[in-house]
Amino acid sequence: HPRGADGRHRRVPAREGSRQLIDVRHEGGAAVVTVDRPDALNALDLETLTALRDQLRRLSEDVDTKVVVLTGAGDRAFIAGADIKYMSGLDVEQAKAWGELGHEAARLLETMPQPTIAAINGFALGGGCELALACDLRYASSKAKLGQPEINLGIIPGWGGTQRLARATTLGFAKELILTGRTVGADEALERGLVNAVTEPEDLLPRVMETALQLAAKSPLALEAAKQAINRALSGDHAENLARESDRFGELFASEDAKEGLTAFAEKREPKFVGR
Ligand code: CAA
Repeated sequence: HPRGADGRHRRVPAREGSRQLIDVRHEGGAAVVTVDRPDALNALDLETLTALRDQLRRLSEDVDTKVVVLTGAGDRAFIAGADIKYMSGLDVEQAKAWGELGHEAARLLETMPQPTIAAINGFALGGGCELALACDLRYASSKAKLGQPEINLGIIPGWGGTQRLARATTLGFAKELILTGRTVGADEALERGLVNAVTEPEDLLPRVMETALQLAAKSPLALEAAKQAINRALSGDHAENLARESDRFGELFASEDAKEGLTAFAEKREPKFVGR
């Protein structure tokens, strides 16, 4: 962090004199994170992916952010993948670090306390599909195209696609998409469980925001506990995971939110959750 004349840290824009690559807008408890590089179909180069990772890390620690929405600028792409021009110059060590950076961003989406929603407004290819897969919910425009075309570049998915695609869909479908590099339209993605719902393009953001604001009104403690428990569903020891669910279920009864939720039902009114 550069210091000003008074010795205090100053905030410096990511690229002086130019637009931010990651736009973050707050709306009623939801943070809408937009990858804003439409000329490159929102492909992620080092600067853009670093900025995305940093914003996700910041939001994961922000108690006023109840839900995170990830989308892409323009009407063509969510994220068309890792920036192929940037990757073409990498050696093995650099490529490993690049893979880790993408994993960090994906892991934040997957494990941050808040629910994360991908609003897939167009191409979600390669790393774009992988970041969508790391989100808790995925909504797609009917014009969206999804896939893992890395094989056509002589490489493989590097930000979690070999694992999360199989978990979200089936092992067989994941192998088909990753080995052939075939991209699928929104309807096939829906049929396969790769996305939760498909809307007309103009309805996508309203639909996602409606869901985001519904989630923002729920108990953040309960949402986090549910997300963490479900994240274990397809890994580790089943009996241990069930025992952990039981523990978390019980622990929530110490919260004001659980008391409020259970009481509000009995009193036939809407609960008002406070996150304690
Ligand atoms: N990297 C860098 N630039 C990209 C890009 C990418 N992944 N995807 C698109 N662009 C750029 C194009 O180069 C083009 O830039 P110029 O105008 O400067 O030439 C611009 O975005 C518009 O794209 P097109 O002209 O290609 O648009 P189109 O409509 O003809 O095709 C497309 C659209 C089918 C998405 C095509 O752009 C494409 O195939 N893109 C690459 C998709 C891909 O392979 N993604 C996976 C990357 S590998 C990866 O992500 C690794 C990983 O797991 C981490």
